Parts: sequence; C-alpha cells; structure tokens
Amino acid sequence: MNVILGVGGGIAAYKAAELARLLGEQGARVQVVMTRAAREFVKPLTFAALTGRKVITDLFPRHESDGALDSAIEHISVAQENDALVVAPATADLLAKFAAGIADDFLTTLYLAFTGPVVLAPAMNSNMWRHPATQANLERLRARGHTIVGPDEGELACGMTGPGRLAEPARIAGAVMSVSAPRRDLEGETVLVTAGPTEEPIDPVRFLSNRSSGKMGYALARRALDRGARVILVSGPVHVPPPEGAELVRVCTAAEMREAVMERLEEATVIIKAAAVADYHVPVVPEQKMKKTMTRLSLELEPTPDILAEVGRKKGDRLLIGFAAETENLVAEARRKLRSKNCDMVVANLVGPGGAGFGSDENEVTLVLRTGETIQVPKASKLEIADAILDQVLPLRLALHAAQ
Ligand code: CTP
Repeated sequence: MNVILGVGGGIAAYKAAELARLLGEQGARVQVVMTRAAREFVKPLTFAALTGRKVITDLFPRHESDGALDSAIEHISVAQENDALVVAPATADLLAKFAAGIADDFLTTLYLAFTGPVVLAPAMNSNMWRHPATQANLERLRARGHTIVGPDEGELACGMTGPGRLAEPARIAGAVMSVSAPRRDLEGETVLVTAGPTEEPIDPVRFLSNRSSGKMGYALARRALDRGARVILVSGPVHVPPPEGAELVRVCTAAEMREAVMERLEEATVIIKAAAVADYHVPVVPEQKMKKTMTRLSLELEPTPDILAEVGRKKGDRLLIGFAAETENLVAEARRKLRSKNCDMVVANLVGPGGAGFGSDENEVTLVLRTGETIQVPKASKLEIADAILDQVLPLRLALHAAQ
C-alpha cells in the first residue's frame, strides 16, 4: 500500500515522524510531502531517513534547471501512484485551502489531483479550531467523505488548554489503514437512514424541536455509500451538507418523516433510524401568528407517530437499527426499546451531562444486539462510529438467518 503523508506547518509536525514510522511498520510505502511552513519545524532529512525516500517540498524545485516540466506534473503522478493521503498536522490554513480548492504549493495541488481516500488530522490553537471559519471548512471536508481524526483535548504548545492537540499517531495510522483498504461489503444493500431533528410547528413562525445536528445520520449515510450501498437519506432540517451520492428526502415534521420512510420502506434492505424525532406535536396549528397575552399559556400536545415502532411491525426480513438517547440505565433501556420496537440492533448513547453525542463531532456508544450481545464503541469520530455500526450489518443478517 502506498500512502502520501502531507506534513503541515505546526509544532505537532515532529509527531508526523512517529506517524511515518508507524505507517511503515504496517507495511505502507510512505511518500512525505512537506509544506514550506512544515520545514520551519522539522527537517526533511528526518522523514527521508524514516521512509527511505526523498521528501517532496516544492512545486517548482529551484535546483532542477531543466526539470520544471517534470516537477510541474509530479503532483499528478504522485496522486495516481498512491492509495491514501493523510495530512498531519492539518493546520487551519491547510484546511481552508483544501475546502476552497486553492492550489498554491505541492501539497494543496496534490490534494486536488488526488481521487483516493483522505485522512486529515488537525492540530492548532483552540480558538483557531473553534473559529466558525475553521468549523465551516471542516464541514465541507467532511461532506466530501474525508476522515477527520482528532484533535484531542489537552495542554497546547501555546499554553492554552482545550481542543487542538494532534491525535495520537497510532490512531491516525489506524484511520489510514482502515480507509485505504475500503470495504465494499454493503454492495447490493439499500440503506435508508433518517437523520436530524424534526420541527413541529406551533404557529406559522414558531416550532418545537431539539438539539440534534444530524451529524450521526449523515456520517452513517456517508459510510454506507463508501461501502457500496445505495443510500436514501430522510433528513429533518439540519445545517450539515448532504453526502454526495445519497438520495436526499428533506422533511420537517415527524408526520412528514413517517410518510417519507413508509413510502421508501419497500426499497430498503437496512433501515437506520438515527433521527431525533420529536415525541409531541401541536395537533391543530393556528393559521395566524399567536399573539402575546400577559396570561399563562398552555400548549396542548399530542404524541407524534412512533416511526420506529411502525417500521418494526412492517419490516419483514429487513434489518432495523434504532437509536436510544438516554440519561440513565443505558443498556437496560436500549434492550427494552429493542424488544418493544422489534429492532435488530439499538445504538445507545448517553446524553446530557457527561455524555457525548448531540451536536458534537464525536460520540461514544454501546451497540445492543438482538442476539443478546453488547458491544462497547469507545469515543471516536462519528464517521468511525458509523463504521462500527455498519460493521454489524452483515453479521446480524447471518445470525438472524441462522436463527430462522
Ligand atoms: N423514534 C421514532 N419516532 C418517534 C420517536 C422516536 O421513530 N416518534 C425513533 C428514533 O429515531 C430513535 C428511537 O425511536 O431511533 C428512539 O428514540 P428515543 O427518543 O430515544 O426514544 P423514545 O421511543 O422516544 O422513548 P423515550 O422518549 O421514552 O426514551
């Protein structure tokens, strides 16, 4: 396997040397590309010694008097010869350039020419990480299907404590190995994913909703596509860009989501209900905006249709995966939902204080299977969690067939 390791200009550049070594240990041939800024932190010689290959630094090397044409197209051949591109540390500047498609040096030009899987391991100061510009760039990169590993929280070189540390090199190497040997295990499957919150109108301008960002469902759709499935994504209102290749059905209310799911149920072989469906709605929505009065206001709410339960009744031999967001008794509650809604697996996560999940890019879940097994998935990016969930599709199907 051939891997390009792009090294950006940050204090963490020295850790990329460890990553180069680990990738080599896994049997990868590593071609290092360093940005000009990276060379301020680490000497190319370090990487050349570790990988046994010349490090690429410039788009137009000055010392090659007659080599301008060769080097000008070298980024194309490097792009074609390699199976994966990993960038560590991915600085805020590199993320911005990748997101915008700016190609002003070897690494950014190579990024545009490269069509294989991309792993980005960001590292920067916490404020730069949290900046809306950086977060918006990440969303765009994620929507392209790139794997983002980290950053970790902790003490940073600038003296601050917070998110921004480069993820452990072993974790980055693991992500590279998993994306470069793409599994096409879901070819032939049609995966119907629901994602995001629903919005239940109170009047023409107000609604009831929840904090779901849709990121978990979108990550599932992304990975199912990568693994060869056809994907129908029924999504409530969210701000994340839809994964390219998914058949997107936008809905607003629980009733609309139910209708969309029931309409497409026949086509699906796997249904994953990651949406945070509102449990209640206002049955009769006034046509005009409600006026403020100085007295108390009570809203009369009715339960929304339980889509998961209905799919559970009609699913036949389709695989049904539900979600359970709990604040306590995680596994017991997930088991109860699994049985009462006839699911094949429930993805349980702890929400509220102490829990990851809503809105975050990371999650930590327990998979509760119909077979009685529980699988703990430690804190990881939502794309990695999505893979852990999808890893259960084929084994579950086999187990269910065997039980029939
Ligand atoms: N769900 C659904 N339709 C609803 C409510 C929830 O399909 N009207 C689905 C969600 O998509 C999720 C699962 O049910 O897959 C569990 O959602 P959760 O809110 O945890 O559970 P509830 O069934 O609402 O139970 P409770 O609120 O009692 O925990």
